Amino acid sequence: MKLLVTGGAGFIGSNFIHYWTKKYPEDVIVNLDKLTYAGNLENLRAVENSPNYKFVQSDIADEKPVEKLFASEKFDLVVHFAAESHVDRSILESDVFLQTNIIGTHNLLRAALKSKTRFHHVSTDEVFGSLEKTDPAFNEKTPYDPRSPYSASKAAADHLVRAYFHTYGLPVTISNCSNNYGPYHFPEKIFPLFITNLLEGKKIPLYGDGEAVRDWLYVEDHCSAIDAIIKSGKIGETYCVGGNSEKSNREATDRILELLGKGEEMIEYVADRPGHDRRYAIDATKIKNELGWEPAVSFEEGLKKTVEWFQNNEAWWKNIKSGEYQDYYQKQYGK
Ligand code: NAD
Ligand code: DAU
Repeated sequence: MKLLVTGGAGFIGSNFIHYWTKKYPEDVIVNLDKLTYAGNLENLRAVENSPNYKFVQSDIADEKPVEKLFASEKFDLVVHFAAESHVDRSILESDVFLQTNIIGTHNLLRAALKSKTRFHHVSTDEVFGSLEKTDPAFNEKTPYDPRSPYSASKAAADHLVRAYFHTYGLPVTISNCSNNYGPYHFPEKIFPLFITNLLEGKKIPLYGDGEAVRDWLYVEDHCSAIDAIIKSGKIGETYCVGGNSEKSNREATDRILELLGKGEEMIEYVADRPGHDRRYAIDATKIKNELGWEPAVSFEEGLKKTVEWFQNNEAWWKNIKSGEYQDYYQKQYGK
């Protein structure tokens, strides 16, 4: 198979490329990524010289290069990760979220339609809104109720993907996944920010009362869920993917502090995120019953592995925090 992976230089996309090349070494992967602040080719060092891997730097919101790429390569499958992904950034500056997440997705859909290329869209549980403590978890039938510019733009993208299935018969699948964590997680998100701050001896900013809840999934489990959907998912269907591992931010923070041997005096309670979604939780019954997928890594094991990864890969996150990682493309490709 020849896959187009968009956003493959980001957190989940790069983990997916590592997962896929290990499991299906005969497949060819073209990684289309703009290399925004969140794209880092250092995540892909292990595959960059493989004859079955190619990197293309381009913006999915630019229609022409996307069309050209589809015309010059015959893809069997698109796995679409590329997005602006950070809620706090969407609150400060939403324009680029609309450009990439909506217009970019639409450009890819239109190009995929010309060649009827199978399209897997990677989406988020945030499109369903916010749960109260006792509400049942989100499932595939939960009505959309996005509440941040990020989640609204992802919801729009999901609707466009479904529209291309119903209107034009494009073979699509969608996954709506809960919070991921693991290697190569960009240190603006809560876990990598807190782990790296603590490794640097800095305080960690917990929003509001620290009682917002997220459902955590180790990133490799997200990759195996996408794999199951690609291989056995039903065309036109959506699958909710989650870790069955709800933790309040304070609970998760306490585990991180414990793993790093630090005390709660490192926590700094700061102003809450505007419109902060209180709780996300996924009911992953459908993907379990229909595709036999379940998470393999427990929260305790995944968090331990993640903390160890950040301890062992100091250069990776220090380069990001200092801004040096953005020179890598130039060094590698001489552009
Ligand atoms: P990320 O921010 O780490 O990576 C995004 C990647 O997309 C980067 O490499 C970036 O350079 C690239 N990109 C951004 N704009 C682009 C553009 N216009 N053209 C081409 N490339 C562009 O994001 P992530 O956390 O890896 O998330 C990947 C996908 O998974 C996103 O669609 C996100 O909505 C979804 N998702 C994330 C999570 C999570 O917990 N991180 C959970 C569920 C779903
Ligand atoms: O649910 C899936 C989503 O998970 C993905 O769609 C998003 O792309 C991804 O970024 C993530 O969104 P969250 O907003 O849940 O992740 P974030 O790490 O930004 O925040 C997690 C929780 O931690 C949230 O309740 C806000 C809180 N937080 C976050 C940061 C960055 C803090 O308390 N302090 C912080 O410094």
